[in-house]
Amino acid sequence: MPMNQCVILGTGSYAPPRVVTNEELAKTIDTSPEWIYTRSGIRERHLTSPGENTSDMAVHAARAALADAKLTPADIDLLVVATLTPDLPMPAVACQVQHKLGVPTHAACFDLNAACSGFIYALDTASAMIQSGRYKHALVIGAEKLSAIVDWSDRATCVLFGDGSGAVVLSRTTKPGFGIVGTKLGAYGDSTDLLCIPKGGSSCPATAASIAAGDHFLKMKGKEVFKLAVRAMDEAARDILEQHHVKADQIALVIPHQANVRIIEAVSQYLELPMDRFYVNLDRYGNTSSASVPIALDEARRGGRIKHGDLILLVAFGAGLTYGSALIRWN
Ligand code: COA
Repeated sequence: MPMNQCVILGTGSYAPPRVVTNEELAKTIDTSPEWIYTRSGIRERHLTSPGENTSDMAVHAARAALADAKLTPADIDLLVVATLTPDLPMPAVACQVQHKLGVPTHAACFDLNAACSGFIYALDTASAMIQSGRYKHALVIGAEKLSAIVDWSDRATCVLFGDGSGAVVLSRTTKPGFGIVGTKLGAYGDSTDLLCIPKGGSSCPATAASIAAGDHFLKMKGKEVFKLAVRAMDEAARDILEQHHVKADQIALVIPHQANVRIIEAVSQYLELPMDRFYVNLDRYGNTSSASVPIALDEARRGGRIKHGDLILLVAFGAGLTYGSALIRWN
């Protein structure tokens, strides 16, 4: 049976209205705006206000993507939310998003956690399900409330992260040659300790002592993550280009995970592709984990940086350490 081709029909994104600058952070923790900017490229981030949750942000981005695709929630039969910060440990936040959006009950709804590579993992999964012919229209959302898992007294991590959401609508296409050309996923499971939340999972449920020790917050070995991130992003990009016989300079725009501009600059050097081919918005958002790629994709498209026929490369890495890339011929 011939496989269906899968295209991105619409994109959308959302960031909470509250903007927190480096200057504001420097009033509450021992840091300086210059340290944050020179080490990461981040100037400010959006943070949720009390009462605003991952599901709410996911719904905003999804509505924008549906409007862009000229579809309604009733058209959706597959809903995947990539997140490491669901509203609750259980059930899947995808089910809350389904209910808030009014997606029909016959739709398949699930979460996927591959940390900051989550959106590309979800894109791979949902596009395969669309290509199988068993699903017609998918909503793929990356949404994160990282402010809830960051230790706001740990200056080495809290300055790097932000909240937000991004979404795409996937559909079958009748235009051969356009849409998702290919994806490449992988993980270095020997490096789980580099970026993790040590306690609160089923192996060590939260106790008063673990909470007092701050072990329910994100912990990171920054320098080690940096080195592996560059290697993983470079490998993920190179592998998919080779697999599809594409040269780096044929890529119109790379949408990289927005963790640190120095990581993106290193990948740019390794791929010998100038920085003006990389979309960078982390100065305004910080690292929003699985939301970072779809927010950047939506901004780039709405800002006129992506044209019909362009070859686009998405590439990300995250806790795990996971990595992923996707090659898209824009329709
Ligand atoms: N303000 C001021 N000083 C800070 C600071 C802050 N916010 N955070 C840490 N420091 C200090 C440390 O205490 C340390 O001081 P010391 O040398 O006296 O012990 C020093 O700065 C660390 O500097 P260095 O290790 O040279 O920083 P760096 O160049 O490695 O940058 C990161 C740190 C975290 C920005 C960088 O390692 C990084 O981006 N890593 C990858 C993180 C990432 O991408 N995570 C997401 C994965 S999806």
